[in-house]
Amino acid sequence: MSRPLPYHIYFFSGLLTCWISCTSSANKCTGRHEARDCSHLKLTQIPDELPTKITVWNLTHNQLRRLPAANFSRYSQLTILDGDFNFISKLEPGLCQSLPWWEILNLQHNEISQLSDKTFIFCMNLTELHLMSNTIQKNQNDPFKNLKDLIKLDLSHNGLSFSKLGNQLQLENLQELLLSNNKIFSLTPEALDFLGNFSLKRIELSSNQIKEFSPGGFHALGKLFGLSLNKAQLSPRLTEKLCLELSNTSIENLSLSSNQLDTINPPTFDGLKQTNLPTLDLSRNSLRVMGKDSFARLPHLEYLSLEYNNIEHLSSRSFYGPSSLRHLNLRRSFTRQSISLTSLPKIHDFSFQWLKRLEYLNMEDNNFPGIKRNTFTGLGRLQINLSNSFSSLRTFTNETFLSLASSPLLLLNLPKNKISKIQSGAFSWLGHLEVLDLGLNEIGQELTGQEWGGQDNIVEIYLSYNKYPELSTNSFTSVPSLQRRMLRRVALRNVDSSPSPFHPLPNLVILDLSNNNIPNKNDELKGLEKLEILDLQHNNSARLWKHANPGAPVLFPKGLSRLHILNLESNGFDEIPVEAFKDLRELSIDFGINNLYILPLSVFDNQVSRKSSLQKNLKTSVEKTVFGLPFRNPSYDMRFNPFDCTCESIAWFVNWINSTHTNISELSNHYRCNTPPQYHGSPVLLFDVSPCKDSAPFELLFMINTNILLIFIFIVLLIHFEGWRISFYWNVSVHRVLGFKETDKAEQFEYAAYKIHAYKDRDWVWKHFSPMEEEDHTLRFCLEERDFEAGVLELEAIVHSIRRSRKIIFVGTQNLWKDPLCKRFKVHHAVQQAIEQNLDSIISIFLEEIPDYKLNHALCLRRGMFKSHCINWPVQKERGNAFHHKKVALGSRNSVH
Ligand SMILES: *[C@@H]1O[C@H](CO)[C@@H](O)[C@H](O)[C@H]1NC(C)=O
Ligand SMILES: *[C@@H]1O[C@H](CO)[C@@H](O)[C@H](O)[C@H]1NC(C)=O
Ligand SMILES: *[C@@H]1O[C@H](CO)[C@@H](O)[C@H](O)[C@H]1NC(C)=O
Ligand SMILES: *[C@@H]1O[C@H](CO)[C@@H](O)[C@H](O)[C@H]1NC(C)=O
Ligand SMILES: *[C@@H]1O[C@H](CO)[C@@H](O)[C@H](O)[C@H]1NC(C)=O
Ligand SMILES: *[C@@H]1O[C@H](CO)[C@@H](O)[C@H](O)[C@H]1NC(C)=O
Ligand SMILES: *[C@@H]1O[C@H](CO)[C@@H](O)[C@H](O)[C@H]1NC(C)=O
Ligand SMILES: *[C@@H]1O[C@H](CO)[C@@H](O)[C@H](O)[C@H]1NC(C)=O
Ligand SMILES: *[C@@H]1O[C@H](CO)[C@@H](O)[C@H](O)[C@H]1NC(C)=O
Repeated sequence: MSRPLPYHIYFFSGLLTCWISCTSSANKCTGRHEARDCSHLKLTQIPDELPTKITVWNLTHNQLRRLPAANFSRYSQLTILDGDFNFISKLEPGLCQSLPWWEILNLQHNEISQLSDKTFIFCMNLTELHLMSNTIQKNQNDPFKNLKDLIKLDLSHNGLSFSKLGNQLQLENLQELLLSNNKIFSLTPEALDFLGNFSLKRIELSSNQIKEFSPGGFHALGKLFGLSLNKAQLSPRLTEKLCLELSNTSIENLSLSSNQLDTINPPTFDGLKQTNLPTLDLSRNSLRVMGKDSFARLPHLEYLSLEYNNIEHLSSRSFYGPSSLRHLNLRRSFTRQSISLTSLPKIHDFSFQWLKRLEYLNMEDNNFPGIKRNTFTGLGRLQINLSNSFSSLRTFTNETFLSLASSPLLLLNLPKNKISKIQSGAFSWLGHLEVLDLGLNEIGQELTGQEWGGQDNIVEIYLSYNKYPELSTNSFTSVPSLQRRMLRRVALRNVDSSPSPFHPLPNLVILDLSNNNIPNKNDELKGLEKLEILDLQHNNSARLWKHANPGAPVLFPKGLSRLHILNLESNGFDEIPVEAFKDLRELSIDFGINNLYILPLSVFDNQVSRKSSLQKNLKTSVEKTVFGLPFRNPSYDMRFNPFDCTCESIAWFVNWINSTHTNISELSNHYRCNTPPQYHGSPVLLFDVSPCKDSAPFELLFMINTNILLIFIFIVLLIHFEGWRISFYWNVSVHRVLGFKETDKAEQFEYAAYKIHAYKDRDWVWKHFSPMEEEDHTLRFCLEERDFEAGVLELEAIVHSIRRSRKIIFVGTQNLWKDPLCKRFKVHHAVQQAIEQNLDSIISIFLEEIPDYKLNHALCLRRGMFKSHCINWPVQKERGNAFHHKKVALGSRNSVH
């Protein structure tokens, strides 16, 4: 038994899905300020959570079916709305009322099939309307009537069968009308009437299969400037008709590319004789025959393109007429399929004689057999591109360029022509030449210097990608004006001839010697003081700087004081000498793809504000010491290095980026950690620097710990060696503090001193102390034998006597600690007495030399306990007196110190 869920659950779940889908899609819109990009979000409804002040809104590639005016009313500031690639089939007139500032509407690739009179009635401020790739087929009304400001109207790729877009004059500001790829078959006089006499920059009618130009088709367009009719299947006859129709316009740019114009004759362009047409594009027409005087009616022509055609030959009158021509494009204009040599394209002598004003002649990618004596005769000051132009011209002789002798040729491009030999004097006719490009040929001869000569203005000779040209000392003696010399990948030989082949080139600014496998750069760069750019990549130069090599390091950039770009990529460098770039301040160096791992500390210190590259090396760290200075300005490119993401290697770098907010390109993609394993492959920026910051407190803790440990060890040692002293004085102090004050009443003491001595020493004691008693009658020692009361227990008597003696005298001999009574009992009591009464109360007399440790060992006594009243029994006579003086001590008070 299942019961339907209550309504409110449906309601809330519906609300929830709506809320999720609405917010999530709108939240995915990107962009800042007044622009929002909501493309590719599968939107079916207009989001209404965006800021109301947006002006540019991109809604392309969604699933919108309508643009409801109400939904746009909150975005009234909108000026650009891009709704390409949706399913919109209808536009509401109210939309323009909601958007008063609207200027550009893109609705390409939608499903609009109908435009009514009302569709754009309120869109007065619209300037661009893009309706390409919809399905608009017919139009009987005046939908664009109110678009007074419209500049560009794109209706291409619709199904329009004729171009009539209105019944009355309108679109007075239109400049571009795009109607290509429609189904327009004929242009009737009424078709373009609605455009009136307004000036129109361009009408695009390409890819329409126009069969007919009715008389007066362009009649209304007094000021038409550009017309494109590419891919319109125009035959020569139809072209002729078109030109007639254009005769009363002010056409300036006519493009007839990719038609079927296989022949042109003087009548073809006859209709244009009253115009001032400067630009004509006839490319890709399979043009085979170019009759005499075909362009004779176009004296104002300046730019003519004939590229990608099939012209069989040029005669001396082919270009008769357009004497203003400045730019002639003959790239791949001639037959290429040559069955025999006779069917190769022919350029007859004097073909270009009329083009006195030509500035640029492009003859790339052709198949000419050669250059004849008068091929180029008559040309003026120009540039000629003859790249890949010859099929069988292998050698430049002293006559090849004879026809250019009187033309001030400035630039000559001759690459990809399989040239293998240059005879001496080949370019001697070209005295004005500035740039000569001979790259990508097969020149393999020894360059003696005879090849050039006569080119006083030459600036650049490009010789890169040839086959083994051999240099000698004089190779360039005749061209001292040279500033750019390109010798890339030519497997150079003899560069090390002395003096160097480059020594006659004091003006050299750029020198490209890359890809040559020439490591020796000791002398050859000497004297090139103006050199600014030096390319040495791919030259296997690592050994020049490897300090283990004999003669290394060779500091080849030294002295090139103007150098500011040095390319050392892919040379296998793993060492850089500290001095390498010492005097070169403004240098930017490309060290990419080498094996650098460690850099000398100060190697970049001199460099200021230039961008250098260290990409694809073996750097694992970015050290402050090396990069601290240069990183302040434009940074080093260090992409693709195997960074070690640890505090020591990378923390400074990560902190530096974060604190300076420097914009390093591709930081998140190409700066990645290699080690340690947990960071492998992740961007350097994600390295967590927080543990590194804690290392400072750790250091402090470490220091404190060490100190505590040291103090502890000190205390242990102190206790071990001086512990007795501490405990002894501790006891003394305690007694004093607790009030065991001295009770110094002479009456209390029966004896001046109690003597502790071994039984065996009693004779010595008797002998030395009784005389003292006799001398001074107040003095009375406690002598056991004499003074102990009979009947009293000996131990009791000892304690009693010690109590009643002011002082205690030890008589220290070896015998003392052999006597058990003394050793344990008497000494203990004496020390107790000393602690309780006073430190002064013990006097010790050592009759023998007894070391302290023995004393301690045997009696737990130390000399230090007795303060100063310690007498070593005089070994010498004179010290006997001292002893007698010391007896004074016996009478002294037991003072508290
Ligand atoms: C909208 O985005 C598409 C790509 O999604 C882009 O091609 C188009 O130029 C953008 N339109 C505008 C007006 O920026
Ligand atoms: C926007 O359109 C949706 C459906 O298309 C509608 O539910 C909503 O009310 C509209 N918003 C406004 C503000 O008109
Ligand atoms: C068109 O723009 C102008 C300012 O350029 C403005 O004054 C006018 O109101 C706008 N037109 C419409 C129909 O909103
Ligand atoms: C177009 O304007 C020119 C002058 O600018 C005038 O001579 C010509 O008659 C006008 N043509 C039409 C169809 O109005
Ligand atoms: C061009 O204008 C002239 C007179 O201005 C007129 O005789 C001629 O018929 C016009 N040509 C065409 C094709 O409209
Ligand atoms: C002629 O028109 C074409 C487009 O149809 C344009 O690309 C070209 O730049 C124009 N040339 C000149 C000289 O205006
Ligand atoms: C070209 O050089 C040859 C000798 O190599 C010489 O006989 C001939 O006269 C030169 N031609 C010209 C035009 O200087
Ligand atoms: C001219 O020749 C050079 C080769 O030297 C080539 O790169 C360039 O594209 C050619 N064409 C033009 C129009 O400059
Ligand atoms: C970057 O600096 C900001 C403060 O400027 C700080 O909040 C943030 O945590 C730092 N990020 C890293 C990765 O250090």
